[in-house]
Amino acid sequence: MKRTDLSIFSFLLFLVPLHSTQSYTYNSIFSFGDSYTDTGNFNAYVLAKNLSISLTTDKWPYGQTFFHHPADRFCDGRLILDFLAEEFGLPFIEPYLAKKQRFQQGANFAVAGATVLDPTELIKQKNLTKSAVTGLNVSLNFQLKWFEDMKGSLCHSKKECRNYFTSSMFIVGEIGVNDYLYMLTNGLTVTQVHPYVPIIVETIASAIKRLIHQGGRTLLVPGIVPMGCLTQLLTAFERDEYSSYDHETGCIRRFNMLSNYHNSLLLKAVKELRVKYPHTRIIYADYYKPLFRLIKFPKRYGFQPTPLRVCCGKGGKYNWNFSEVCGMPHVSVCHDPSKYIFWDGVHLTEASYQYIFKSWLKGPYAHPPILDAHL
Ligand SMILES: *[C@@H]1O[C@H](CO)[C@@H](O)[C@H](O)[C@H]1NC(C)=O
Ligand SMILES: *[C@@H]1O[C@H](CO)[C@@H](O)[C@H](O)[C@H]1NC(C)=O
Ligand SMILES: *[C@@H]1O[C@H](CO)[C@@H](O)[C@H](O)[C@H]1NC(C)=O
Ligand SMILES: *[C@@H]1O[C@H](CO)[C@@H](O)[C@H](O)[C@H]1NC(C)=O
Repeated sequence: MKRTDLSIFSFLLFLVPLHSTQSYTYNSIFSFGDSYTDTGNFNAYVLAKNLSISLTTDKWPYGQTFFHHPADRFCDGRLILDFLAEEFGLPFIEPYLAKKQRFQQGANFAVAGATVLDPTELIKQKNLTKSAVTGLNVSLNFQLKWFEDMKGSLCHSKKECRNYFTSSMFIVGEIGVNDYLYMLTNGLTVTQVHPYVPIIVETIASAIKRLIHQGGRTLLVPGIVPMGCLTQLLTAFERDEYSSYDHETGCIRRFNMLSNYHNSLLLKAVKELRVKYPHTRIIYADYYKPLFRLIKFPKRYGFQPTPLRVCCGKGGKYNWNFSEVCGMPHVSVCHDPSKYIFWDGVHLTEASYQYIFKSWLKGPYAHPPILDAHL
């Protein structure tokens, strides 16, 4: 039975009166990140800039679960952001580049392929030419500028904005995976990538500070996923020697260690920010541990026993081929996405996102759990 432990947990919580569940409310969510959170910005951006990138998330089978039609999400169904909006009784958060601009209840600035660092700078510094997403130029700072431009439609004076954003939740991340994927698939070794980790984390920390100065009081800061378990890297490094792998999961250890390094610096930065801004509530959300747990014990959580095989894809060890991806003709989808952890080779299924969401909402993988984080 699927995720039994959590459902029993929520059932018990329901019986115990909790003062905390009564007093928290959020009037809006503002979200920054990449394809794990994008709800339509990438498609709008590509169309607006006329980039020669073929879209996939506007095609079947994307969105087949829950939405029953392509919903511009890199998923079969809902993302963690969608589950959060549902939890707080808000409508799904509008992507910033959407035609209809109604941001009173929040805006989503996340764009698939987005990096923390400015991609133009990365290319200049390291001669990185093999971009994951050619022509996309959306860094975290770029998303923050969008937020600052949009703010005027919600509030004017500093005081008014502070009042408005007191009841908002700001979600900063997950972001950073693309920076690393970009460098690693361009041939940099983990050792060569290491010096960038503190720079990437510092840039995320500055983004958090900027949001606090705008009036942000509650911030959710997710770490990054175990990159050594991502199909994209598993396939690119398929000829790696036997000793590179974690034999329990089949993930590549050195990339997971890079994720751990990023996450440990990010957690340290969050702790420092909490001290510096005691009037704020900054939640560190662990993306690594819950996902790794699913991969390690797939059957326990109702998933099929080959956790790294993707639901929607074609061929190869992991049912994934970079040249023929989900959404393209003749690429098939699994019978039951809720039995798969990975959806399309980079992204997770709704079932995985839901498990992670629940582990952040009530614990144990968010510090503090979201429901305990009201001010
Ligand atoms: C979009 O790009 C294509 C080729 O890449 C070009 O043929 C077309 O005219 C462009 N459309 C616009 C509106 O710029
Ligand atoms: C990047 O490439 C240019 C031209 O190929 C070369 O002149 C430059 O030295 C390279 N920079 C680095 C950091 O490798
Ligand atoms: C990308 O954006 C940065 C600012 O965010 C800008 O400095 C740079 O010129 C842009 N690059 C391209 C290729 O548009
Ligand atoms: C991936 O797809 C391409 C294009 O269809 C094909 O040529 C290639 O052999 C495939 N690779 C694998 C590993 O199946």
